[in-house]
Amino acid sequence: MPASAGYGRRADAYPDLDYVYAQCSGPGGLRLAEHMADAMELREGATLVDIGANRGLQTCFLAKEYGVTALALDPWNDREDGRPMVDHVVDNAREWGVGHRVLALGAGVPDTKLATGSFDFAYSTTALEMIRAVEGQQGYQAALREIHRILAPGGVFGLGEPMHLDVPLPDDLRPYVTRGEFSWADCFSDLGSTVAAVAAAGFDIVQAEYATDATDWWDEFARHDPFAKADPEGDPATLRVDAGRWTSFGVVVARKL
Ligand SMILES: C[S@@+](CC[C@H](N)C(=O)[O-])C[C@H]1O[C@@H](n2cnc3c(N)ncnc32)[C@H](O)[C@@H]1O
Repeated sequence: MPASAGYGRRADAYPDLDYVYAQCSGPGGLRLAEHMADAMELREGATLVDIGANRGLQTCFLAKEYGVTALALDPWNDREDGRPMVDHVVDNAREWGVGHRVLALGAGVPDTKLATGSFDFAYSTTALEMIRAVEGQQGYQAALREIHRILAPGGVFGLGEPMHLDVPLPDDLRPYVTRGEFSWADCFSDLGSTVAAVAAAGFDIVQAEYATDATDWWDEFARHDPFAKADPEGDPATLRVDAGRWTSFGVVVARKL
């Protein structure tokens, strides 16, 4: 069955979006994970590293629905309960019945200390843009080079990232996207610049797109993410004011030759 014909079917098996968005962090939830997995052509029995896995719900989904053996990397503690994210990954993997196929490591890029050429697939959603905000474009580039290093030759990297369209930032939106510690203006880039950065890390670009479902994914996030629900004047207000003019979501699939 072609990927497009099956789109949405695996993620639709998990309809409790309050649960999904409590365990994921970012737009798209498991619909994004499915979109990425199909674009990357994940295959059963392959190894995958999920970079910035958070509580690892997408990792568990990929392990359960696509049969990969996955390593979830995340260096931070949970901002809700202070536990290491990787502890949540272990709990989720057990609950999802994939504890034998999901490992978790408290580490991040670029300092993974993993062996060169270890994985068939590298996957990262809504994570690397945070490095751009903290470490700048140089830090972002170092993260991409590390991902390239730990992939096996022929390995595929799938990057799903909140991005902005290639248009000037609307003046009325500026106050909304420049506020807070990880402001969207500091984090987000456009698709063309991201593709150039991935290529500069040594990858061959297979596919790059602004996701056609980006607006739906952001809308779902605004309605179901626990932090968004608790603060309607935060991200939900930004998305309301934006109304699809600037904020988007990009997917890049690339191969290590
Ligand atoms: C917004 S969450 C998204 C996580 C997950 N991919 C998802 O979509 O649910 C971003 C995650 O990136 C992680 N992170 C921050 N810096 C990182 C780094 N240098 N390397 C890997 N992950 C990092 C954070 O700990 C956080 O859990």
